[in-house]
Formats: sequence, C-alpha cells, structure tokens
Amino acid sequence: MKLLYTKAEVQSWTKNIQTQGSTICLVPTMGFFHAGHIALMKRAGEIADTVLVSLFVNPSQFAPGEDLSTYPRDFAADCQKAESAGVEGLFCPDVQEMYPQQSQTSIKVESLSHQLCGKSRPTHFNGVATVVTKLFNICGADYAIFGEKDFQQLAVIKQMVADLNIPVQIHSLPIVRESDGLAMSSRNSYLTGEERKQALCLSKGLCLGRKLVASGILDSRIIIEKVADFCKDSAVSIDYIAIINKSTLDESPHVDGQALLAMAVKIGKTRLIDNGFLLTGDKDVSLNA
Ligand code: PAJ
Repeated sequence: MKLLYTKAEVQSWTKNIQTQGSTICLVPTMGFFHAGHIALMKRAGEIADTVLVSLFVNPSQFAPGEDLSTYPRDFAADCQKAESAGVEGLFCPDVQEMYPQQSQTSIKVESLSHQLCGKSRPTHFNGVATVVTKLFNICGADYAIFGEKDFQQLAVIKQMVADLNIPVQIHSLPIVRESDGLAMSSRNSYLTGEERKQALCLSKGLCLGRKLVASGILDSRIIIEKVADFCKDSAVSIDYIAIINKSTLDESPHVDGQALLAMAVKIGKTRLIDNGFLLTGDKDVSLNA
C-alpha cells in the first residue's frame, strides 16, 4: 500500500493508474478504522480496480468545543487494517497540506444541511462538503463510497455532486453493526462500560419503531413519542428523533414506503447517531433486514 502525503503525490499516483485504463474508488475517512470502514474499503474494491482511502481528521467540520482535539487516532493500526482490506493507496495529508493558507472558499449545501444534525451542528455540513469537494478535486477518482450510517452526510454529498457537476459516481453501503446492534463508530471508543449499555437505546429504539410500524401504527408522532419514552428510560439526552423522507430528509407525518427513522443522542459527552428504514407491511423488525 502506497502512502501518499501530498496533493502532488496523490495526483500523479491516480493519473498513472487512470492512464493505464484502471478505475479508482475513493473512500473518504477520518481514520480509527472499525469494521464499517473496512466494509466500505472492500466494497470499493468490487466497484473499481483500485481503492484509494483518504485519512484526514477534518478540522472544518468540528465546531469550537467539539471533539477535534480528542478525536481517536491510531495511524499504525489504520495502515495495517487498510492494507489487509486490499487498499492500494492511502492519502494522509496534514492540515497544512489540505488548508495551506487562509482559505476563502467553502461549499454550502443549503436546505439539506440545516435539518436533523444541522440544527445542533450548524457549521458541520459546510465543513464536510468543503473537504469532500477538495478530496474529489485532488484525487479525481471515478467513484466514491460513503456509509449510510451518516445518512444526512450522504444526502448532502449526493446533492453537492449533482449541483456542481462533479465527475464522480457516488455509492453507499448499509450500516455495519456490532453483534448487539450498536452501529460501529470511531466515537464508540469514548464510551464507558455503562455508557456503552445506554448507547443500545439507539438500535433498540429503531427496532421499537419498526415493531410499531409492523403492528400497524403509521402516525409518526405516536412512533416518535414511544421511541423517545424508551430512550428516556436509558437516561440519555435526546438531540432528535425524526421520521423523514429518505430523499428530501423532510419530516413525514405518516410512515410510507420512503420513511427513515433517524436519531441522535448524547451519552455523557459522546454524541451518537443511527437510522433505519421503516417499511410498511414488513414483519421482520431486525435492523439487518
Ligand atoms: P468517518 O466518520 O471516518 O467515516 C468514514 C466513512 O465511514 C463515512 O462514509 C461513514 O458514513 C462510514 N461509516 C462510519 N461508520 C459506519 C458504519 N457503522 N457502517 C457503515 N459505514 C460507516 O464520515 C466521515 O468520516 C467524514 O465526515 C468524512 C466524510 C471523511 C469527511 O471528513
């Protein structure tokens, strides 16, 4: 696996591959790899001939007071894991390389960035959209893949690619979970033993939502209320519980074929998100259905 530290290095590496007629799939990450990241890398290897991973903890998507300085990092372990997953190039720039001078340009995806996580993190998606645009421009990959765990991020990126005519094809991968249902996240490493148990209210809350729909309750307000009551029992602080249309991210008053239950909670200092489809007529309420 080739370690690429500068924009020039990654550009000549990708150009060399593409002039030989091979395709590249980019997997943007912030590192501290878990099974969700590894699954993305493996899927990328099925989409394209060559997998390029970027590892960059992007300061512009963290607001002051958020966890930029404590964000978990383990570069040596990440290199080993990526190499074992078949990754051929790892772009790992430093902050100077990505943001060399006082940048004056940022990318803002209007409506989609303001909903859900955007309400409590108003500058977050501008940072994501800006760094992902920079990564697309630097790497020139044919494809890029993102996880459905960050459903709003995926929607923002798809919209941005369409609006700005960025020549990259976006793929996505369903959520990878621990055996007890907790969605994999680099931030799970912040949780104490007790908080780890409390965090299960997310996946269990989603299952409850699916059970309610399977029992014929389609009124979003009732489902949200019951899931919120369930989460309150776990003593977590709820940021939002919403039933949204999977394309527009607008709140849906009723569960229809397009509905997604999306949640964000704070457990101690750790903010976690999760989501799952609510399918009418679906009797299988497990999250991997
Ligand atoms: P990061 O949190 O490292 O996630 C990198 C990619 O892994 C994202 O596409 C995310 O959706 C996906 N991912 C995380 N947990 C997952 C899980 N349990 N199952 C499936 N996929 C999962 O998301 C970011 O980094 C950053 O915002 C980034 C896009 C790199 C921009 O800085």
